[in-house]
Amino acid sequence: MSENKIYRVGLGVAGGIAAYKAIEVLRLLQKSGCEVQVAMTEHATEFVQPLTFRALTENYVLVDDYAPENPDPIAHINFSQNIDLLLIVPATANIIAKFANGIADDFLSSTFLASTALVLLAPAMNTTMWEHAATQRNIAQLKKDGVDFVEPIAGELACKTVGTGKLEDVENIVNQALKLLAQSPKSKVQSPKYDHKDFKAKLNAQELETSDLRLETQDLLEEKILITVGGTREAIDPVRFISNYSSGKMGFALAEIAQKRGADVTVVCGATTVEAPENVKIICAISADEMHRSVIRELPDASIFIGAAAVADYRPKNVSDNKIKKTNQDILTLELEKTPDILLDVSENRHENLLIVGFAAETENIIEYARSKLEKKNLDLIVANDITKNGAGFNTDTNVVTILRRGDVDTIEIPLMSKHKLADKILDEVLSLRQKLKVKR
Ligand code: CTP
Repeated sequence: MSENKIYRVGLGVAGGIAAYKAIEVLRLLQKSGCEVQVAMTEHATEFVQPLTFRALTENYVLVDDYAPENPDPIAHINFSQNIDLLLIVPATANIIAKFANGIADDFLSSTFLASTALVLLAPAMNTTMWEHAATQRNIAQLKKDGVDFVEPIAGELACKTVGTGKLEDVENIVNQALKLLAQSPKSKVQSPKYDHKDFKAKLNAQELETSDLRLETQDLLEEKILITVGGTREAIDPVRFISNYSSGKMGFALAEIAQKRGADVTVVCGATTVEAPENVKIICAISADEMHRSVIRELPDASIFIGAAAVADYRPKNVSDNKIKKTNQDILTLELEKTPDILLDVSENRHENLLIVGFAAETENIIEYARSKLEKKNLDLIVANDITKNGAGFNTDTNVVTILRRGDVDTIEIPLMSKHKLADKILDEVLSLRQKLKVKR
C-alpha cells in the first residue's frame, strides 16, 4: 500500500437499481485516501458496466472467479485477505440472504465467507422486500454475526412507492465506513486516521473551497435554533390533502449540523420522507396552521429562526367532514384561502437578538424575487435556489444556492454541494451576522 493510502476497501456491488450510486461511493472513498478494489455480482453488471469501475480504480473488476480473463486464479482468497473492509453497495435482499446463510455461489458471496475483514452492508430494495420477515431475519442473523449496516432511508423508490428501502446518502455511507475502520482494532492500518477534519482535508479543491465542516467546534453553543422543516398538508376531506414535494432533507441537515455545532435545536416538523436527526426536539405540525401555532409558541425561546419548510400558501376554505364522492360530479372546484405566512409573522413579532433566515425556491428571476422576499419579510438572510437546476431543490441530496443578506448588495454564490455541507455554510453566515450585531452594540 502506498504511503498516502489509508485503508483498503473491497467494494462489492450487488444487482439493484442503486448500483450506480456505488460509483459515487467509490469516488468518495478514493478522495478520502482509501485504496478500493471492486467486485460485482453478475446482476450488478446489468445496471453498471464493470468498465466504469475498472477505469476509476485502474484495477480488474472481479465478477466471476472462473472468467478466463481473470488475472488471479484464486481471486476470492486474495481479494478477501487484502482488505480492511468489505463494503456492499447496494446490498440487495438476495446478497443479504446469501451472506446470512453462508451460500458461496459467486465471487462476492465467496469473498464474504473467505474474509476476516470488517463488513458493512448498505441495503437498498423495495419496501415490501425490506420489511419481509425473511429479510429482517437475515439481517438480525448477520448483525449477530458482527456485520454492520447502514440502514436504508425512507423516500421515493425506483418502483414509485414511498417507504423505507432507499439507499442511505452516499456521504453517510462513506462516513460510516471510515468511522468503522477508524474505530476497529481489526483494521490493519496502525493509527486511526479518520475524523471529519481529516476527511475534509482530503476532498478536492472545489469542495474545500466551499466546505469546511465545523462539527468539532461548538460555535453555536449560545444559540437556540427553531427550524420549520418539510411540507405542510392542507386537508380537503378526511382522506385527501394538498401538499408539495418537500422531503425535509435541507431542514433536517440544518438541524443536524446546528446540533453538532452545539446549538439547542427545536424542529417544527411537517410531512417529511427522511428520518429526523438525533438529539433535536421535534414538534409535529402537519398543516400550515398547526405549524404557525407551534412556531409562535416556541419563538420566545429562540435566538435564530430558520423557515426551511415548504409551507402551503393556500388551503381549502371548507374542509369536508365526509369523504367527497365523485358521483354526479364531473368537475370539482375547490375554493382556496391563504394560509398564515409564518415567516412574516415571526418577523413582525421579532424580539431583540432574533436572527431570521428564510428560503426562496424559485424558477425564474431568482435574485430579484429573493431580494424582494428578504425586504418584504424583513429577514436577516435568505437562501435562494433555482429549483429547475440539476441537483437543486426538493428531494435531492444536494443543492445549488445564492445567499442574500440584509443591507448587503453582494450575493454569495454557493456551487453544487451536499445539503449537509450547505447547512454548515448557511450556519457560518448566520454566525457571522451574529458577530456583526455584537460589534455594533
Ligand atoms: N413561508 C412561511 N409561511 C408560509 C409560506 C412561506 O413561513 N405560509 C416561508 C418558507 O418557509 C420560506 C419562505 O417563507 O422560508 C418562502 O417565502 P414565500 O414568499 O412564501 O415563497 P413562496 O411560498 O414560494 O411564495 P411566492 O408565491 O411569493 O413565491
